[in-house]
Amino acid sequence: MGIISASNYDEMSDAMKVMKVKNYEELSKTAAEIMINKINLSSSLTLGLATGSTPEGLYRYLVQDHKSRHTSYEHVTTFNLDEYAGLNRDNENSYYYYMNHHLFNHINISPENVHLPNGNTVNLEEECSRYESFIEQNGGIDLQVLGIGSNGHIGFNEPGTPFQAKTHIVELDDTTRKANSRFFHTINEVPTHAVTMGIATIMKSREILLLISGKSKAEAFKRLIEGGISEQFPASILKQHPQVTIIVDRDAYDC
Ligand code: PGA
Repeated sequence: MGIISASNYDEMSDAMKVMKVKNYEELSKTAAEIMINKINLSSSLTLGLATGSTPEGLYRYLVQDHKSRHTSYEHVTTFNLDEYAGLNRDNENSYYYYMNHHLFNHINISPENVHLPNGNTVNLEEECSRYESFIEQNGGIDLQVLGIGSNGHIGFNEPGTPFQAKTHIVELDDTTRKANSRFFHTINEVPTHAVTMGIATIMKSREILLLISGKSKAEAFKRLIEGGISEQFPASILKQHPQVTIIVDRDAYDC
């Protein structure tokens, strides 16, 4: 796996670092290297994981590395960011299914160390507080992986979500349902609600790795770098986090 040259490594501030990479493959490899290093260095690590198209390459590299270099996940615990409301775990559009398919089925992680919110329970409110306290009881998240929506959402925290929100139920934006309808037969099948870690939950992670890829994210990247901090653009809060690394590919930064 390649090393990113110093010239591609911009420091926005002491806290937020931007790594500019050529393309999606390089983004995925770079993210995988960062995670694998942490996994190898730590005797007990809690990862926050994301779904969507962006981290698929990262998971592919983690699986490849596990097969070839036998990186062990015995001491790794994971918490996913979010889950759709009302989908069974065996529905192939659930994030539970996604995570098993892309990662968990292919590495040596114990099923009891893998956590996602349960979006298919009668009492979603209770599930939100259970999930939030469960993360805390486990000592919090060491490294949280994030993608970004073209509207600036992180997790399913849509524009307008209060920065102090903990894990909560959200009504999905039309733009988000439309973007995600590519995985469903019709847009009507896309759930209208989801459970997501809140911005406050995400901000408690000790370190954040934000992945931004493709032309459809160029506007969001620009706004993140150039804009102010506002609840209308949820990712902007990351400017206040002490340890954020952004990995961005040319399609997203060079528009
Ligand atoms: P994507 O989604 O990786 O599928 O683009 C990211 C997000 O909406 O958070």
